Amino acid sequence: MALLDVENLSIDFGVDGRKLPAVSELSFSIGKGEILALVGESGCGKSVTCLSLARLLPSPPAIINGKILFHDGNSRDPLEVLKLKPRELRKLRGGKIAYVFQEPSVSLNPVFRIGNQIEEAIRLHRPELRDTESEVIKLLKQVGIPAPETRINSYPHEMSGGMQQRVMIAMALASSPDLLIADEPTTALDVTIQSQILELLKELRDNTGMTIIIVTHNLGIVSEMADNVIVMYAGHSVESSSVKNVISSPIHPYTKALLSAVPEIGKSVENLCSIRGNVPTPSEFPRGCRFFGRCDLCDALSHEEKSLCETDVPVWREERPGHFCRCHHAGKSLEKGTLS
Ligand SMILES: Nc1ncnc2c1ncn2[C@@H]1O[C@H](COP(=O)(O)OP(=O)(O)OP(=O)(O)O)[C@@H](O)[C@H]1O
Ligand SMILES: [Mg+2]
Repeated sequence: MALLDVENLSIDFGVDGRKLPAVSELSFSIGKGEILALVGESGCGKSVTCLSLARLLPSPPAIINGKILFHDGNSRDPLEVLKLKPRELRKLRGGKIAYVFQEPSVSLNPVFRIGNQIEEAIRLHRPELRDTESEVIKLLKQVGIPAPETRINSYPHEMSGGMQQRVMIAMALASSPDLLIADEPTTALDVTIQSQILELLKELRDNTGMTIIIVTHNLGIVSEMADNVIVMYAGHSVESSSVKNVISSPIHPYTKALLSAVPEIGKSVENLCSIRGNVPTPSEFPRGCRFFGRCDLCDALSHEEKSLCETDVPVWREERPGHFCRCHHAGKSLEKGTLS
């Protein structure tokens, strides 16, 4: 059963009279209880995609088109997010979708005790609840904070980065969301703490059936906890399938390059330095394939084949059962510098 269907989503930013395409032609579906990872380098459109799911991008400058369908199970028809009225939108944001952002300072107020902040979140989302303090303790326990009864009196700065992140997850859980979106929840933390937080998210999914979107640069992280992956590049989805398919038999040259930047799956690598050049910004996206200019496969092609990459946007196609890719030359691959 799908929780969310995204159809042909595009997000443009109107800047100085120009329309900059941050995300284009993005379609995907998330099943209930699934963990979906959005992966790609900085600037690929992961965060704006996540924010658009609850219409949290200020508009203008953002112009969002396409369809976002949220199957909340309460009504027969799905909620069509891009058409919701303000009141329905508040409900969606308040109860059904919750975010955990990378920076604790965005979500945690330094001058209030963490217990009060979580209590506030509970009051906002579940005003009918009487005993908020025991709910706070329950939530803190759920996210693995030791001695929650005393911890409720701590200020954020009295906690480690990992503990702060657990508090943010507890706050997100206060509304019992159907969908939790964790936008790079761990990059500021060291590797051991990172994997503990991801393990926690996975546990929460296993125990509550919550659906999770996790945003990350790190394909290693994905292999440990996600079910499905969407690889994004310069505002396009370039590959999507189960974690197993994407990691063991990637199709798109960008995915292959990302994987080669993770020397050992399971060990985190922050710098994807093996891909030459940078992700173009929306004002400089190539006309055809957006990976043009950085693609090893393209470099090895004939002049004619290459010109297709340069001039035509590749179509999003199911190349193998359940395995989607956006590449004109998905059937070809480069093994040790030789085209096959
Ligand atoms: N308010 C805005 N106005 C104009 N352009 C924007 C705005 N917000 C984001 N963008 C652009 O949209 C593109 C996608 O940005 P986004 O933040 O989604 O990338 P990301 O994949 O999350 O990167 P990172 O990994 O660094 O977080 C970028 O080119 C960014 O400059
Ligand atoms: Mg981001």
